[in-house]
Amino acid sequence: MINIIGAGLAGLSAAMTLAEKGMNCRLISAQPSERAQSVLAEGGINAALDTMGEGDDINLHFEETMKGGVMLADPNAVAALTGNAPAVVEKLCRLGVPFNRNADGSLMLRSFGGQKKKRTAFAKSSTGKMIMTALTDEVRKYENTGLVERFPHHTLVRLLIIDGSVSGVRIRDSYTGKMYDLAGPVIAAFGGPAGLFPSMTTGTVTNSGTAASVLFGQGVRFANLEMIQYHPTTMEIPGKRCLVSEAARGEGGRLFVRKDGFPWYFMEEKYPELGNLMPRDVVSREMYYVKSEYGDVFLDMTGISDDVWKNKLSDLRDEIMHYFSLDPKTDPIPVEPGIHYFMGGIYTDEHHRTNIPGLYAAGECACQYHGANRLGGNSMLGAVFGGMTAAESASRLPGLTDEIMETDPDDPVGGEVPAEFAKQVGKILSDGLGIVRSGDGIKKAADRLRVLKCSDAPEKLRKEFAHAMLLSALGRMESRGAHFREDCPDTTEIFSKTTVAEYIEGTVRITFEDIPERRNK
Ligand code: FUM
Repeated sequence: MINIIGAGLAGLSAAMTLAEKGMNCRLISAQPSERAQSVLAEGGINAALDTMGEGDDINLHFEETMKGGVMLADPNAVAALTGNAPAVVEKLCRLGVPFNRNADGSLMLRSFGGQKKKRTAFAKSSTGKMIMTALTDEVRKYENTGLVERFPHHTLVRLLIIDGSVSGVRIRDSYTGKMYDLAGPVIAAFGGPAGLFPSMTTGTVTNSGTAASVLFGQGVRFANLEMIQYHPTTMEIPGKRCLVSEAARGEGGRLFVRKDGFPWYFMEEKYPELGNLMPRDVVSREMYYVKSEYGDVFLDMTGISDDVWKNKLSDLRDEIMHYFSLDPKTDPIPVEPGIHYFMGGIYTDEHHRTNIPGLYAAGECACQYHGANRLGGNSMLGAVFGGMTAAESASRLPGLTDEIMETDPDDPVGGEVPAEFAKQVGKILSDGLGIVRSGDGIKKAADRLRVLKCSDAPEKLRKEFAHAMLLSALGRMESRGAHFREDCPDTTEIFSKTTVAEYIEGTVRITFEDIPERRNK
């Protein structure tokens, strides 16, 4: 029996893949699928389907993904991702995802950042919700046949590791507090650690970051933790950041600041080729600098046609009107970069295997596809394809058992971190790991973290994981993608490597490892 932790896109995709093979799995999640982070994904999913007659192909998708990630992603993993993307999207169509379509019935594709061709399939600007609905329903079929067993409202306590291999997982029922040991390999699919930055991300407020901290404390290696994506267009709402989808710019939205009383469309002037659709790291950095000189940055969507508003962005407009009482059809809206995605995560190979046999990882909690900066539209693709790949790998393990045992109710690991402590850690991290960073700033943040008192295991693990993020950023003495250091502004060949963070005998250790060679083209 395979244990999947997380019931968002990656988890559902893994469960579906195993069930299609007739294999059993348990789908364990803090929240039901309907409340997973993936539901919030807006703009779309990438696949070089070339339905817009632009001559797109999978090689170009590969190249732009690698370039967007500033050559830090695993090229073999990216080749598999981009090569399989058309089949993934076709499968989603068969499952009934209501993607927008052209008059001839082919899939409509939109422009997204860092890509010269229209490559992003979408369902208005609620693509995540639509894909999640289809996958949730598909998996429900297998729940009925008994191949998939759901454990909603259960959180990870710790991995069970025997002789260096994962033999199972301990979980806690959030309603009763009871704990269970479940035998079998584990696929981690629990999303990004948004909870490390409370109120500062577009992520769901329930993705606490605790599972990542626990695994790190148990010796799971993490990679590129310094690579944190700031999405250029977000707005503040209580408890989190509201995402204004890149689709807004893909459909013609323009960023500007007021300069000498007139709008200055700075991205268009500075980057004539891709303009407002430069990769997110570039746009966010430009916004950071122009804001410091000229004040607030606005997104001007007033030139978008009625037809596009009605057929492609109606839900985005509704959301902005609902939360901010502003109509983006008639008035520019103020926007700011906000934390949106963690390119770094559990260090996996192209088969989604980790450094601990029996543990696999997929989706935002894993690291192999996005390097130093993820292209919009590649995250849902990475989650669906990653879930499939991790499931394939896990299914090859011999001797799977299906034992469940109720266990020690006193295991303190995996418990939630008190909100005040989480807030303090979040403030320290965001001070050290902003859009523009410096060695001094990161060191100061690490010093503040070091003296932060923690009273129990969950707090200690959170602190160590946060420390690993800061030390990863300190160790990478260059600027690359989302990691921009004022004191080392150049990208340097010696750092064309993966940053690896590991917890060994109570100490965070950072090393740099070679990126795999691309095998065959
Ligand atoms: O802007 C967006 O709709 C986000 C998409 C993504 O992160 O892939």
